[in-house]
Amino acid sequence: MNLELMKKKVFLTRTLHDFALKELKKRYQIEVHSGKIPIPQTKLRSKIKEIDGLICFPYDKINKQVIDLAKNLKVISTYSVGFDHIDTKYAKKKKIRVGYTPEVLTDATADLTFSLLLDILRRVSEGDRIIRDGKWKVIYGAYDYVGLDLQGKTLGILGLGRIGRTLAKRAKAFDMKLIYHNRKRVSETREKILGVKYVSFEKLITQSDIISIHVPHTKETDHMFDLKIFRKMKKSAFVINTSRGKIVNEKDLVTALKKKMIAGAGLDVFETEPISKKHPFIKLQNVVLAPHIGSSSKETRTKMAEITMKNLNLGMNGKKPIYSVGY
Ligand code: DGY
Repeated sequence: MNLELMKKKVFLTRTLHDFALKELKKRYQIEVHSGKIPIPQTKLRSKIKEIDGLICFPYDKINKQVIDLAKNLKVISTYSVGFDHIDTKYAKKKKIRVGYTPEVLTDATADLTFSLLLDILRRVSEGDRIIRDGKWKVIYGAYDYVGLDLQGKTLGILGLGRIGRTLAKRAKAFDMKLIYHNRKRVSETREKILGVKYVSFEKLITQSDIISIHVPHTKETDHMFDLKIFRKMKKSAFVINTSRGKIVNEKDLVTALKKKMIAGAGLDVFETEPISKKHPFIKLQNVVLAPHIGSSSKETRTKMAEITMKNLNLGMNGKKPIYSVGY
C-alpha cells in the first residue's frame, strides 16, 4: 500500500518557506503551483475539485464558483491578514473553514506604513534617485531637497484596528497630532492611551496633513478615495496606502498628483499588482512606491507561515483555526 497516496491533499497557490513545506509534506500530499501569479482561475478550478486543504495568498480569487467545485475541501488557509480575495460567507455556508494571519503582522505593517510616511515627507527615495542618476550637483543648498517635519503635522488614521492603533503609537513618538475615523468610535480610555481624537470622515479628509488608510477592501470602501475626495484634501496633504489598492481610484490619484491637488503619496498596494514599468506612477516624483511588502520582514513572514500551517492543520481536523473568519 502506498502510504503517500493515503495522505490528504493540500494545494498551495504559491510556494511557502522551506521549513513549512517540509512540515506540510510530513502530513499531507502537497502540490505547489508554479508559474503565473496569482494562479489562473482555470488551474484553481481544476485543482479545487480534488483537494482537502488549500493554502492561498492575496489576489487568488477564491469565489463562489471556485468553492462550488470543491468536493472534499475542509479548510482555506490564507497567508495574509486580508481575506477580501475569499468569499468567506459562502465558504461558511459550505462549512469550509477559513484561517488568516492577523496580529503577527501588525508591527511590520505599521513600520512599513511609517517608513513610507517618513520617506515621502523627507524625500529619501527621491534623493536616492537623484544620486543614482548623477544629478546631485549642489552640496547643502538652502533650498535643495527640502522635505517636511513630521512633528506637529496632523496624521489622519482611517480605520483604528490593530494596524491603525500601532501606527498611532509610532506617530505619537514623533510628536504628531493624531485624528482618526472608524466605523465605531473606540472607548475614551483607549483614545486617551493612544492620544487620538475621533473625527467624522469629512473632517479626517479636510484636516489631515497625512491620511493613512487602514480599512479592508469591501464594497463600501472600493474606490473610496477618488477625485471628489482628493479635491477636499489640503493641497499640501499626503495619502499613504498599505491596505488594498482598490480602495483608491488610481486614475484619479494620478490626476490629483499631476495637478498638485495633493502633495504626494506613499503606496505599498495597487489596483493590479505588480504594476508595469509604464504605469503613470513611475514617472511621478511625488510618490513613493513599495512592492506590497507591508508584512515582509523575516521574523513576521516566518510567523505568518507558522500560523498558516496551524490554521490549516486545525481545519483539516475539523477544528476552528486559531484565527478564523466566521466559522
Ligand atoms: C496582508 O496580509 O493582507 C497584507 O496585504 C500583507 O502585506
